[in-house]
Amino acid sequence: MTEANTQPEVNIGLVGHVDHGKTTLVQALSGSWTDQHSEEMKRGISIRLGYADATFRRCPGVDEPECYTVDEECEDGSESEPIRTVSFVDAPGHETLMATMLSGASIMDGAVLVVSATEDVPQAQTEEHLMALDLIGIENIVIAQNKVDLVGRDRAVDNYEQIREFVEGTVAEDAPIVPVSAQQEVNLDLLIDAIESEIPTPERDPAEHARMYAARSFDINRPGASAGDLKGGVVGGSLVSGELSVGDGLEIRPGREVDEEGQTEWRPLETTVRSLQAGNRDVETAGPGGLLGVGTGLDPSLTKGDALAGQVAGEPGTLPPTREEFEMTVDLLDRVVGKEDDESGESDIEEISTGEPLMLTVGTATTVGAVTSARDGECEVSLKRPVCAEEGAQIAINRRVGARWRLIGVGTLA
Ligand code: GTP
Repeated sequence: MTEANTQPEVNIGLVGHVDHGKTTLVQALSGSWTDQHSEEMKRGISIRLGYADATFRRCPGVDEPECYTVDEECEDGSESEPIRTVSFVDAPGHETLMATMLSGASIMDGAVLVVSATEDVPQAQTEEHLMALDLIGIENIVIAQNKVDLVGRDRAVDNYEQIREFVEGTVAEDAPIVPVSAQQEVNLDLLIDAIESEIPTPERDPAEHARMYAARSFDINRPGASAGDLKGGVVGGSLVSGELSVGDGLEIRPGREVDEEGQTEWRPLETTVRSLQAGNRDVETAGPGGLLGVGTGLDPSLTKGDALAGQVAGEPGTLPPTREEFEMTVDLLDRVVGKEDDESGESDIEEISTGEPLMLTVGTATTVGAVTSARDGECEVSLKRPVCAEEGAQIAINRRVGARWRLIGVGTLA
């Protein structure tokens, strides 16, 4: 088995409405369960971004698509060959967790939209997630029509037609629709075949500066560990460019908020890379693509409980500026998507106005900003929590509509 094929090289988002089977599908393909937080287990929904790696394999001498599998052993007892390892980013489907989905979208190279065959199409977050992919420009999409084990043939065909009609005119217009049962592990070979042809590994240049978007951060020490055994903080996320190696210097921005004589300011953190975990194993060097755990020399209290989620890490001195305010050009949607019929709030999207609060997703960061000036197609915002972002960065813009934040458009940092 070649090491190259077992390193994750591409991030694939699992998106779609709550309970349509994203987590079950990730589990069927990777053997691991992404809902690892006890609260999530209890409530049975994904709250945070989950991720898991899966190695797609091929059984020698078998025709496509039947040759595709995630098992090491083929039906005839021979050993399958690894083709490519992917990282799945499992986005929560609950409507209140749209910000988490959007921050995940910034590290997705492609996406599988999971649509349950048991419900009419589109359900609210099927529509909202697809709109987000469209706005953010994620074009490589496969649609998994899930739970086909629960419906008869006629219902499956009707549902398939509904999906086709729904995606017409969107970024997923030409996406293949693959009927599957994540729970019964039916048609996973067809799904892998579709992912292999629709979601290629993007071309990347390892000579570029390392740039990592943090999606999670952890304190991996057991409570009560003695000072001598304490391990440094761990940052989890994805390299969008460049390479990182053990021993490299690492800067993390915006870093941490320090309070000096009543004045608060954000100071970048500097540390070194002490260990790297990719594809469930320790590596010396990791390239772009796939999800990565970076062991650092940081005090674990700084990384505890996702404290650094949304920050950007890379070679010291090469990161974009930390911005407490910025100007952006704005493209608004025509109408609010993903609203249930009985929800209050306007469905038409009005222009952005001075003084209104917006929730903005920039890279993996989510922050609230107040609009300090708004003109046709442009606005300036002042942020509660700064972000590290460069000119041209894409920003998902959310406005409070009724009781929730709703995606209303996309901005480009000017
Ligand atoms: P969120 O992450 O909370 O948005 O939900 P999810 O889309 O990840 O759904 P999840 O995988 O948690 O599945 C929801 C329920 O549907 C679970 O009880 C699964 O066992 C069930 N389920 C998922 N896929 C299938 C399937 O193909 N067939 C059947 N019969 N049940 C399924």
